[in-house]
Amino acid sequence: MGKGFYISRPLGFVLCGLGIVAMLTIFSLSVVYTKEKRKNQVTAINETGMVTTAAPHTTPAPSNEPWDKYRLPDTLLPEYYNVTLWPRLVPDEQGMYIFTGTSGVALTCIKETNLIIIHSNKLNYTLTLENHHAKLTGLGGTSAPAILKTWFQTQTQFMVILLNEKLEVGKSYWLYMEFRGELSDDLAGFYRSQYTENGVKKVVATTQMQATAARNAFPCFDEPSMKAVFHLTLQHPPETVALANGMELGTESITIEDKKLLQTRFKPTEKMSTYLLAFVISEFTKIQSSEKTNIRIWGRKEAIESGQGDYALNVTFPILKYFENYYNTTYPLSKSDQVALPDFAAGAMENWGLVTYREQSLFYDPKESSNGDKEWVVTVIAHELAHMWFGNLVTMRWWNDLWLNEGFASYVSYLGADYAEPTWNIKDLMVLQQVQRAFAVDALVSSHPLSSREDEVITPDQISQLFDTITYSKGAAVLRMLSEFLTESVFAKGLHVCLKGLGLTTVADADSRIQLPASIKEIMNRWILQMGYPVVTIDTRTGNISQQHFLIHPEAVVEKPSDYNYEWFVPITWMKSGSNMGQHWLLTKTALYEPMKTGTDWLLANLNVMGYYRVNYDPQNWERLLTQLTTDHKVIPVLNRGQIIDDAFNLARAQIINITLALRTTKYLLKEKEYIPWESAIRNLQYFFLMFDRTEVYGPLQTYLRRNVQPLFDHFQNITSNWTQKPPRYMDQSNQINAISMACRTGVKGCSELTRMWYRQWMKNPDSNPIPPNLKNTVYCNAIAAGGVEEWDFGWQMFKKSTIAAEAEKLLYGLSCTKEPWLLNRYLEFTIDPKQVRKQDAAFAIVYISGNVIGQPLVWDFVRAKWEQITKDYDDGSFFFGRLIQGITKKFSTEFELKQLQRLKEDIAASSFSFGTQAIEQAIEKTKANIKWVSKNKAQVMNWLTEQST
Ligand SMILES: *[C@@H]1O[C@H](CO)[C@@H](O)[C@H](O)[C@H]1NC(C)=O
Ligand SMILES: *[C@@H]1O[C@H](CO)[C@@H](O)[C@H](O)[C@H]1NC(C)=O
Ligand SMILES: *[C@@H]1O[C@H](CO)[C@@H](O)[C@H](O)[C@H]1NC(C)=O
Ligand SMILES: *[C@@H]1O[C@H](CO)[C@@H](O)[C@H](O)[C@H]1NC(C)=O
Ligand SMILES: *[C@@H]1O[C@H](CO)[C@@H](O)[C@H](O)[C@H]1NC(C)=O
Ligand SMILES: [Zn+2]
Repeated sequence: MGKGFYISRPLGFVLCGLGIVAMLTIFSLSVVYTKEKRKNQVTAINETGMVTTAAPHTTPAPSNEPWDKYRLPDTLLPEYYNVTLWPRLVPDEQGMYIFTGTSGVALTCIKETNLIIIHSNKLNYTLTLENHHAKLTGLGGTSAPAILKTWFQTQTQFMVILLNEKLEVGKSYWLYMEFRGELSDDLAGFYRSQYTENGVKKVVATTQMQATAARNAFPCFDEPSMKAVFHLTLQHPPETVALANGMELGTESITIEDKKLLQTRFKPTEKMSTYLLAFVISEFTKIQSSEKTNIRIWGRKEAIESGQGDYALNVTFPILKYFENYYNTTYPLSKSDQVALPDFAAGAMENWGLVTYREQSLFYDPKESSNGDKEWVVTVIAHELAHMWFGNLVTMRWWNDLWLNEGFASYVSYLGADYAEPTWNIKDLMVLQQVQRAFAVDALVSSHPLSSREDEVITPDQISQLFDTITYSKGAAVLRMLSEFLTESVFAKGLHVCLKGLGLTTVADADSRIQLPASIKEIMNRWILQMGYPVVTIDTRTGNISQQHFLIHPEAVVEKPSDYNYEWFVPITWMKSGSNMGQHWLLTKTALYEPMKTGTDWLLANLNVMGYYRVNYDPQNWERLLTQLTTDHKVIPVLNRGQIIDDAFNLARAQIINITLALRTTKYLLKEKEYIPWESAIRNLQYFFLMFDRTEVYGPLQTYLRRNVQPLFDHFQNITSNWTQKPPRYMDQSNQINAISMACRTGVKGCSELTRMWYRQWMKNPDSNPIPPNLKNTVYCNAIAAGGVEEWDFGWQMFKKSTIAAEAEKLLYGLSCTKEPWLLNRYLEFTIDPKQVRKQDAAFAIVYISGNVIGQPLVWDFVRAKWEQITKDYDDGSFFFGRLIQGITKKFSTEFELKQLQRLKEDIAASSFSFGTQAIEQAIEKTKANIKWVSKNKAQVMNWLTEQST
């Protein structure tokens, strides 16, 4: 099979180890971002649990006409396209930005038909002499039937061509069309992006085809398995450069309609899916490497010239080399372009040979960006480059297997990033960033299985909903588990075979060192075809182990049936008192396994959190683990120290263990210096702050945490020579942020002074910011909180002046931290004045202010008072209001607040504004759940915390 084949056997999915390779696509992380945020919102909101909301699927009206179905018929296959496009980078007389184009496609008939159905969306066509929208001719001496009629099905996004005779099986035809479309700013299809350079407005024409927008750029068979070769030609203004998937073949000057233009032709692409096409016309400049593969980083002149693309260029070559080796397949193309776009919906997009990014996913500024920013850049690049093989070379047959594509790229992005930054230990971060993140969403009954049935994913809406946390993060977590129990080398070997078209199963079955209790398919189906995951309970007194579907809300009722009864084949790894490792498969609901009986030893299961499950123990074993943590925590692997905390807090929320047991897992933090356990604890304690920062629990909570974080703060003061140096280890650099933010938050002596000192130095010399980029967020917040109007006004000026998005965002947050009600009120007024705060940031700013305990009631009054104005000015649909309502009500946990919410709901119902009602419903649900949680746990938490300080 040649390059770019897709696995068409229906079982391809299973064969290639579960599909390890029948993959597909991806969007990039990016979309993940926007989409996921949206989704999280919905899911997170229904904390009661139960359910929620997958957006309603619009099912097509039943019809037997082929053009009313969303899927293409199986009668025709495209072989290659010749496409020429001319985008106008200035508006026409009507003020519209347009593009014109011509497209021909060679198609082969594989089943007799007198219909040609091809995707086309929002395009207008030039009529031929015969008054049709297309011309059909035969190729290779064949004669073509005449066109009787052409028309458009807007719902299914098809152009339909009815012929007077049937096309012949085995014969090829040439379908040719001329069309025009709008180069709009909707971030999909062929679209425009804008920026200003030296006061001059610049327009970029660029694309985002995934998942279903190639049809907005030119008529095409827009399904992932309809792979073809694309010959592309772009016509563009003289001062611009044109890029596409293939390398430029040459550029010539031409004149059309009296306009002097350049015409650039590109090397034909590999045989590939339409969603991976890309072209960019811009005044961007580039840096490039001299290595063998042509690696080029493109972006705004100012950004590239100031070195913001250097880091991307530095890491791209090693990552490509790493993946060539990992996949045992050379990089399939002769060049690799990566472009940063000022306007981009997703995080990045793995177009084959021309990867597109939003600026903050590709650009890195050593002086301004934080570690987090850098880590984002290297993992996004690794994710997209991983797709150059997995996803692009081999592609999912249909979108229902998206998880394989995205989960895989998300998993191996850590391997690639680790190769580029070997000192970071970045692979460990998968536990926080992927596993725990998936755990959170997948513990709701509203979750869904990794894989969907093909017929459940049909419409563009259904397809785009697949780009969610389950697809990316659970996909990564489950593949990580598979790679662990197969061993990385068998996993990789399986992958090579897959890339060459065979199955992973074969490799593992042939490797006698791998002992599995069942076939890979039997094991994996349980993780792929049913939603959720188990909590495994180990009773070390008896050796009994059992599993149970873990649900965060104890009263939740699972309505979706599962063929596997919500039981899994669970690979359990374990250690006893620091040695004696073992592995055991739990294949049934309960089992007796003698070696798990431990006597006086402690037992720890799920080593390094390689398995996608939580663990609970009998009370005695919990006690022994807690004792071990407080005596010598280092005996327990660092990832498990974080996981013990995360499991305990979640088991407590699910009412499986007591809340005080969860709190007790944090006691040993007095001695902990590592990032991962601290980060786990802080994330879990966040809910305690939300619920209790306005109650009598707050004092004891502060006292307890202050005592715990004091040694960490001292430790960092020490290893940084009194805050003058960066800690040498990457993980420590991350944890230093936690040390300072927790210390300042809980009032550790010296913390506030430190942040104010830095900030004052900056105020004295605004052109030279002395604050380490990693610490800016927390320093801005704390210094502004401790300061007055002067500090605030300075921060505001810097915000207005900032030209770096990441920096502006940090200030936007810092400004919300002041304790002065009048400053907060003034800031609130600014947030809804687009001259002061860009509309896209308004909701974030308001939500930040409501995270401030003094700001919270101000925001609530403000939003209710300005509801009409806000709904009028920010009517970008429910997204804005969803974020706003969810953000400003997250602390709500009293009957009084519940009543106010209900009142708001009635007021809105009585007004003419319908925005936000769904978000308010959800906030009401969530507030009820919070009230319940607080009433159940508050006294216990209070008692426990009080005991700790005596
Ligand atoms: C399509 O373009 C290629 C490359 O320019 C050319 O060789 C070929 O003849 C074109 N095909 C048709 C049918 O026009
Ligand atoms: C396509 O035609 C419709 C209807 O005439 C028109 O409203 C639209 O502006 C046209 N689009 C372009 C890009 O010309
Ligand atoms: C890129 O690599 C060069 C050469 O190793 C190095 O000097 C430079 O600091 C690196 N740039 C970034 C932003 O990492
Ligand atoms: C693939 O593996 C073989 C055997 O280890 C090796 O000789 C070959 O160079 C590898 N190919 C690539 C492209 O890495
Ligand atoms: C949350 O789940 C509950 C229980 O199924 C349901 O009744 C309620 O409508 C859901 N709320 C939202 C906002 O979806
Ligand atoms: Zn991806």
